Amino acid sequence: MKIRFVFILAALISGCGASSPPGPFSQDSPRVREGLMLAEKSQCLSCHALDHKVIGPAWNDVSARYNQAIRSGKTSEQQVEQMLEKKIAMGGKGNWIWATGGMSMPPNAPRVSAENIRKLARFILSLRK
Ligand code: HEC
Repeated sequence: MKIRFVFILAALISGCGASSPPGPFSQDSPRVREGLMLAEKSQCLSCHALDHKVIGPAWNDVSARYNQAIRSGKTSEQQVEQMLEKKIAMGGKGNWIWATGGMSMPPNAPRVSAENIRKLARFILSLRK
């Protein structure tokens, strides 16, 4: 009995060793994981998550809303990307009052580079395409 237990334990341990240790974003696809790692590095995740409001709106909701506006022809993907880049860089409020109670996002530039802001805006928009 004891020997069998040790054997199972050894099998479990070696099974775990075969894959990389689970990180905080191990459940997500590589593309989403990469975006979340950049967001983590850029200190966005103290206020944002994909699927629920933290202080700022859920990024899945942000993506769904603007992709719907693009599909309905109210705006273009390029316009939305530019608007989001500007908003992430300069901060601001007013677009998500019902979710945030009117909180503003502080400016993230120049702490976060323009290139990374562009990557983050595209990543967020791509979530619910
Ligand atoms: C201190 C909290 C805080 C931090 C840090 C923060 N945000 Fe925000 N974010 C907010 C709030 C609050 C809003 C809602 C603003 C509004 O109502 O227009 C928001 C809104 C947004 C939106 C939606 C913009 C819109 O007008 O629809 C995006 C996209 C976004 N944030 C991305 C980011 C990214 C990327 C970072 C990191 C570089 C970041 N946020 C860091 C609080 C934060």
